[in-house]
Amino acid sequence: MREDPAAPSSPPVMPNPLREGLAEERLPEPAVMVIFGASGDLAHRKLLPALYSLTRDRLLPGRFAIVGFARKAISDDAFREEMRAACAEFARRRPLDPDLWSAFARNIFYQQGEYEDPAAFFALKDRLADIERTLGLHGNRVFYLATPPSSFASVIRSLGQAELAPKPPPPGAPKPVGAPPPFARVIIEKPFGHDLESARALNLDIHETLDERQIYRIDHYLGKETVQNLLVFRFANGIFEPVWNNRFVDHVQITGAETVGVEARGGYFEQAGSLRDMVQNHLLQVLSLFAMEPPIAFDPDAVRDEKLKVLKALRFIPASDFEQYVVRAQYATGSSAGQAVRGYRQEPNVSATSTTETFVALKLFIDSWRWAGVPFYLRSGKRLPKRVTEIAVHFKEAPHLLFGRRGESIKPNVLAIRIQPDEGIALNFGSKLPGPAMEIAPVSMEFRYGSSFGVEPPEAYERLILDCLLGDTTLFTRADEVEASWAWVSRIHRRWAEDAARQDGGELPTYAAGSWGPPAADKLMTADGRAWRLP
Ligand code: NDP
Ligand code: BG6
Repeated sequence: MREDPAAPSSPPVMPNPLREGLAEERLPEPAVMVIFGASGDLAHRKLLPALYSLTRDRLLPGRFAIVGFARKAISDDAFREEMRAACAEFARRRPLDPDLWSAFARNIFYQQGEYEDPAAFFALKDRLADIERTLGLHGNRVFYLATPPSSFASVIRSLGQAELAPKPPPPGAPKPVGAPPPFARVIIEKPFGHDLESARALNLDIHETLDERQIYRIDHYLGKETVQNLLVFRFANGIFEPVWNNRFVDHVQITGAETVGVEARGGYFEQAGSLRDMVQNHLLQVLSLFAMEPPIAFDPDAVRDEKLKVLKALRFIPASDFEQYVVRAQYATGSSAGQAVRGYRQEPNVSATSTTETFVALKLFIDSWRWAGVPFYLRSGKRLPKRVTEIAVHFKEAPHLLFGRRGESIKPNVLAIRIQPDEGIALNFGSKLPGPAMEIAPVSMEFRYGSSFGVEPPEAYERLILDCLLGDTTLFTRADEVEASWAWVSRIHRRWAEDAARQDGGELPTYAAGSWGPPAADKLMTADGRAWRLP
């Protein structure tokens, strides 16, 4: 285990025997992380707990400080206490270790300010200089924008005005003599834009202040172990890549199902809907990793270049057959885990006449040599019967039936990649039933992370924060990727807007909370002679 003399002391972490002999993790440079929106839900539930777990795993440098920034006036101590409660409730590694917590909390600070107030950023600059002097930090800074998206551009502009985020030297510039200049990186939460035009405008705006190399657009799905494992599964094993194409694959289903409703985020969700909230980012990112060509190297641009090609190859949904490709609906009253639950329109901060979709199912094609003719079916929804994110690769049937009776078909092979929960991979195939007859039964070969590695995977935010501190943008979305996915998704929104503007625009279909969506979602599959897999 690596020793960092400056790290706070903590009880020994049991080494994972399966990591023995593997490369040691890299340790980031000492730095300070400023969290804008520090009093918000994300900071409480995800960011501080992730930073605590990283400290607990000794993955952060010993000299590391956190500065929370928000509007309410509270002291450093009150903020530390709030964060202690948040970590006690949400950190992956619980209960909190009191000694470790004291050492961790000592370097947590709070700065009050308004995003629209330039003076607040000059005050922040002085505060950072103070903290860095006291802790012996060299000026490396990460700014995390956990703010309402409407503030992303103004925060970045203010960072620029206060000269808090200078651009790095251009690539290829002569290396400075002595220590490299400190870095300034900015993590931007989702949603990045509302449609293609706003995403473009936001990119233009933030590029006035920042170089693309400083920008870390977060999509937390890319931080999930199982999503990264897609790359390992495809490119570190010789047997899967040869069948990963239209010769062997009949179709692919990607499901992102949640049992929860909109919870306390009705105000946000009203402006978003499932297509913006889950498909434009998470599901299209998963799709692009699944479908991309092998990158030439595991480096940020090589990987993102290949993902971009997939996003650019998405065929626009044909206007004439739109309903055969896109289904949307909203949850009505129903039940979840045996409890009666209200419908979307009855949720807090949701309009009683809302037409926002909480479910979407889509059929799409990727126009490339590899995937020509293979339909991809995507669905995502809230208040579905089960929380599951999964990619199911349905292979073609055996071309010639040796067994079974004429007219009978054998179930085709399915490779199910379970992203969450019960992370793992299962391959279904046909096997001979024991006995004198040549009867076939479906069986499954399974790999499960939990039982194979004996450790729970880290939280996505842990991995992504660490990558940003290490300067690795591979698992963050690049400007052109975001624009390509909006270009595809925005056409669907435009069509919905046109439909809504028509006199006969029709009602938005509903589905009972706790069901798998509206009947039209099933029809989308049965029309093609297929069915959704029951995950
Ligand atoms: P919240 O509304 O809970 O928090 C927003 C934060 O921003 C609060 O700390 C608030 O501070 C602060 N804030 C708002 N306006 C200003 C302002 N003018 N000046 C200073 N501070 C301000 O939002 P979330 O934490 O839920 O979300 C934050 C970001 O993360 C959003 O972009 C969201 O889309 C994204 N996100 C959130 C997820 C989640 O699960 N929560 C999941 C995925 C993405 P104050 O206390 O002063 O009001
Ligand atoms: C967020 C969406 O990006 O992802 C939420 O805004 C959604 O609406 C969440 O619930 C799902 O994330 P996970 O990691 O729980 O699948």
